[in-house]
Amino acid sequence: MVVKEKRAINREILTELKTLEYRGYDSWGVATIENDTILVEKDTGKIGSTVLANTSDSLAGIGHTRWATHGGVTKQNAHPHLSFDGRFAIVHNGIIENYLQLKDELQKQIPNLVFKSETDSEVFAHLLAFNAQSLSVEEAFFKSLAKVKGLNAFVVLDKKNNNVLAYRHGSPLVFSQNDGGYYFASDAIALLPYTKKVYFIKEGEVFIGDRLFSAKTKKSKKITWQMLDLEVSDLQKDGFDFFIEKEINEIPTVIEKLISTYKNQEKSLLSLLNQHDEFFLIGCGTAYYAALIGQYLLAQVSRIATAYSGGEASLFLKNIKKSTLPIFLSQSGETIDLIEQVGFLKKKKRKLLALVNRISSTLDRESTLSFHLQAGPEISVVSTKAFVAKITAWLLICSSLNKQLKATTKNLALASKNIRKLFLAENLDKVAKIANLLSIQNHVFVLGRGVHYPIALECALKAKEAAYLHFEAFAGGELKHGVIALIEPGTWTIVIVGGDEEDANILANAEEIKARGGKILGISPYFHQVFDEWLSFESVPNANVLLEAVLVQLLGLYLAKAKNLDPDKPRNLAKSVTVK
Ligand code: F6R
Repeated sequence: MVVKEKRAINREILTELKTLEYRGYDSWGVATIENDTILVEKDTGKIGSTVLANTSDSLAGIGHTRWATHGGVTKQNAHPHLSFDGRFAIVHNGIIENYLQLKDELQKQIPNLVFKSETDSEVFAHLLAFNAQSLSVEEAFFKSLAKVKGLNAFVVLDKKNNNVLAYRHGSPLVFSQNDGGYYFASDAIALLPYTKKVYFIKEGEVFIGDRLFSAKTKKSKKITWQMLDLEVSDLQKDGFDFFIEKEINEIPTVIEKLISTYKNQEKSLLSLLNQHDEFFLIGCGTAYYAALIGQYLLAQVSRIATAYSGGEASLFLKNIKKSTLPIFLSQSGETIDLIEQVGFLKKKKRKLLALVNRISSTLDRESTLSFHLQAGPEISVVSTKAFVAKITAWLLICSSLNKQLKATTKNLALASKNIRKLFLAENLDKVAKIANLLSIQNHVFVLGRGVHYPIALECALKAKEAAYLHFEAFAGGELKHGVIALIEPGTWTIVIVGGDEEDANILANAEEIKARGGKILGISPYFHQVFDEWLSFESVPNANVLLEAVLVQLLGLYLAKAKNLDPDKPRNLAKSVTVK
């Protein structure tokens, strides 16, 4: 940030960094200009209740919270990184693919150059300083950017001009300005305390101070402002212990919002879908499981769809037919494995549909049409309400294709009412008791069939990421093809019983496990004698996946609680995966 009157902006930057910690929380750092020197304070670990030692005033500063790519989690590797001459401090998001080559070149050009970190990022600080020895800072910035390969966003603090420079390629960056100064962040939520008027920096754009340029042509560009539809209060925990808990509790409201706004977009969605006879559904992690659910639900209305994990999709997208519509699913709209594919398809002038939560994210802006998931900010790294919003979106879309919207709307309203009942103390006590039991198991298996199989996958992922437990999901039909060899007396298996035509077969699987001494937790709308433990929900025609999803998410939360872990920020993870 750059402000007009000196103040302790290092503390402000640290406060805003806490809002951005979901992007990475291995280490953090802040740099400000004080009396012609760049002061850097950084450390490993989460920011927590850190209070910065330095309190003096400054006009310009930058900060960073890291998710390590190159170089371990150490104080030296934390950003910002200083240039050899002390003129620049840089923060970086991305991977400089040719950093070793650049490092070699710089070592030859700059006598006694010492790299203080093992990061690729530090190279850019020295490269810029080297170029700025003979060029204006603008020219040096453009020249340095042209040398760097890969998807990278940089924000640079320039001591000489008391200024900040920024560049976006791949990783997101937002700019905003008010009477007091101007600001950059990798997510608009960090800018909310300053202003709601923002500019989402586009691919290949550069800011020199508060002026916008194209990196390619070096010509200046006009800033087109946008108002954020967010409140600072959206970023509070509202009395819950964790964001994930708040976000699961918001699910009924999210479903109701989607029901009430769906009619406005039904026509444009149907028009785009009906121009195609097949669909590719692409997402990562939880969003991939939501794509799998879409694949099953579309099949139920006789439409052909194939779900791909973003990281595996490129080969299939390369040869995608004109009659196949690519549909991307994402909470953040910034996941690099999707954005890369979006870029490839855009070049081919293909139409794209997005099911996306973050309005104005890259995916949202680049898609032909977006179905906004309207789940509000999802702060917990572990995704919950956005997953359920995606399932709701599929249920609505499929009912439109099948001309059953009225009945589906009624079922969704009932599902939302029944989900609220899952938050009653009696049910939560039951979930907590079962979580205590499962939290001490070495391995737990999860089985589902049909549309309930992706729910089994979601259950296993939640347990892994929120509680570091080895839960493994399988399609019920696979049990006898190998998996059953893992069952020993006392091994717990969770079976998802969806109250439909898959029930008889999944219950038969449960019996087969039981016959070998295994224990069964049924997630089911009714009790069955094969269950040793039972988590129940009230059945809703064609919408039970929503209730199952909420139950497995609650189980993930209570597994984390049982192990005294923070499910909002699990180890090694970042919410928005913007690097390959
Ligand atoms: C799991 C989780 C991740 C994300 C995945 C995709 O709880 O949060 O698996 O679902 O990283 O992220 P988005 O949806 O932002 O593309």
